[in-house]
Amino acid sequence: VKNSAPNCDANEAALRRAAAGFRDLRQLYYYSLGKMRHDPAYPFTARILREATGPILDVGCGAGLLAAYLREQGLGQPLLGVEPDAAKINLAHDRIRPRYEGLDFAVGRAESLPEFSGQVVALDIMHYFSDEDQVKVLANLAARVGPGCRLVLRTTLRESHWRYRATMIEEAFVRGTGWIIGGAWNFPRRETIASALQASGLRFVALPMWGGTPFNSWLFLARRPEG
Ligand SMILES: C[S@@+](CC[C@H](N)C(=O)[O-])C[C@H]1O[C@@H](n2cnc3c(N)ncnc32)[C@H](O)[C@@H]1O
Repeated sequence: VKNSAPNCDANEAALRRAAAGFRDLRQLYYYSLGKMRHDPAYPFTARILREATGPILDVGCGAGLLAAYLREQGLGQPLLGVEPDAAKINLAHDRIRPRYEGLDFAVGRAESLPEFSGQVVALDIMHYFSDEDQVKVLANLAARVGPGCRLVLRTTLRESHWRYRATMIEEAFVRGTGWIIGGAWNFPRRETIASALQASGLRFVALPMWGGTPFNSWLFLARRPEG
């Protein structure tokens, strides 16, 4: 107990630094702090990519919060964030990019990603696509995972489970706030992801990643074998 308090303080200070670019946008600032404190996918991604070499592609990067979080956790790899919502890219570009070295953000979509080879992260984007497009997007993501590199993909799975129903209620609420732009909700099936990753030559494990939430979130940690 004696040792844990300073660590907690140090980590809380790092979270506040990561969100500091949004300090004057109170809603976004407190949302960001809450997200970093409670979403297990952020520390998991930092742990997985900490020792990884090569650049990171963050697909559906929002306002660039994960990039800031990874920098505050000591990860220094070049990172490109892509996101279709220009308002979020402007926030990332104006408020996150100037605070750290080696970050870049661009308007873009998972359906048409730029050329890239390295580590790929895609947190909570799969439900924006039809069944058919999910397969294409998974192939797009996988194609950008370099030899020996990883894909960190988190999504809710469409399963007959109370966690899945809870996720649908939460999505309705978030959408009501206007923070997440249009598109259908079409959470993928486990088999869709498994077969697309396998077909793309990736090995993977699926890990429960709901933390303290009631949502049916799973994280697929995939790796392309060395050349
Ligand atoms: C739930 S948020 C997650 C943000 C971020 N990945 C995170 O975990 O902090 C989903 C993001 O995906 C973005 N998005 C929507 N359609 C997309 C698409 N076609 N390609 C890539 N990202 C998309 C949304 O604009 C939103 O910023």
